[in-house]
Amino acid sequence: MSKMRAMVVPEPGGRFRMEERDLPEPGRHEARIRVHACGVCHSDSLVVEGHMPGLGYPRIPGHEVIGVIEALAEDVEGWDVGARVGVGWFGGACGYCGHCRRGDSFACENIRGATGVTRDGGYATHMLALASALAHVPDDLEAVASAPLMCAGITTFNALRNCGAGPGDLVAIHGVGGLGHLGIQFAARLGFRTVAVNRGRDKEALARSLGAREYIDSDAGDPAQALQAMGGAKAIIATVTSAGAMQAISGGLGVNGTMMVIGAVGALTVDSFDLLGKRAAVKGWYSGTAVDSEDTLQFSRASGVSSMNEIYPLEEAQAAYDQMMSGKARFRVVLKVDA
Ligand SMILES: NC(=O)c1ccc[n+]([C@@H]2O[C@H](COP(=O)([O-])OP(=O)(O)OC[C@H]3O[C@@H](n4cnc5c(N)ncnc54)[C@H](OP(=O)(O)O)[C@@H]3O)[C@@H](O)[C@H]2O)c1
Ligand SMILES: [Zn+2]
Repeated sequence: MSKMRAMVVPEPGGRFRMEERDLPEPGRHEARIRVHACGVCHSDSLVVEGHMPGLGYPRIPGHEVIGVIEALAEDVEGWDVGARVGVGWFGGACGYCGHCRRGDSFACENIRGATGVTRDGGYATHMLALASALAHVPDDLEAVASAPLMCAGITTFNALRNCGAGPGDLVAIHGVGGLGHLGIQFAARLGFRTVAVNRGRDKEALARSLGAREYIDSDAGDPAQALQAMGGAKAIIATVTSAGAMQAISGGLGVNGTMMVIGAVGALTVDSFDLLGKRAAVKGWYSGTAVDSEDTLQFSRASGVSSMNEIYPLEEAQAAYDQMMSGKARFRVVLKVDA
């Protein structure tokens, strides 16, 4: 086959349309991936709605990709055609390349290589990825089931293992959506005293079945006070899509607690007295690197963490995206990509 199919965002705020294109040849450092599955993440809205300045359009979103290497540039070492691979967002500044050290982190290869954002992604039968963005995917991990681990999974797993909490510490997972439902599973298996926080009680039973020991309904009262009543959180993993909701819970941190800001919500206001009085921190977190993705896959396989998915064919990307944005998905939407 010398053609590929893709669900393309024609312009910011536009609706998806199917395009047939010539198969791209891998350039320097690149692999061509035959995509088997791609998750639909709330962060795709940055591309679809045009919230990120400077992006080129038309653009193919998708940064939760599982597939197989179909072709490799000559300069790529350590990978073989036919290998099963995953590709995540891979788009935060690394902090140690030449660009980052000169204070020009937007030129960092990680940023330039952001799958489905600054380069085309996995809402397609094929895509190009930087070899440095590839993660090995074990043969026994099924593509559709594993795709969400490449963003929702790695982001929550990596935030949890870098949040400063230890076994037994109170850790709140704020938001029970695509990221949050995986965050609860990871937190419980990492040995934290896991509390799930969401609006209303609809998702309480499910959150508990995923491993939450406690549940806070943020509509029923002040969620910060509820966390303080439990002793104060060592960490809050903030996955909600609302700045107001994040602000309302930040006061729930305990002494030396850290709020890991994961939701892309724009400006946040926090109380400096509250932070300095507790030596508490508010810290941003992006997903991670390909090595972190491999760790996430291995940990999930070993400890039985799995994403609950609603599956759509590639051609129904618009419906899949709308379902994700509606907040009604239980919990992750995944595109299954047939040849
Ligand atoms: N930092 C990173 O590397 C990274 C990686 C992936 C995603 N993200 C970001 O993480 C966020 C979550 O993504 P997702 O795919 O998990 O989204 P999602 O599935 O849509 O889940 C959103 C969650 O936010 C809650 N929420 C929405 N509006 C709210 C409000 N006004 N008040 C309180 N809670 C509210 C929802 O609660 P209900 O159940 O009540 O609707 C739900 O629990 C997005 O901003 C996404 O861009 C960041
Ligand atoms: Zn994502």
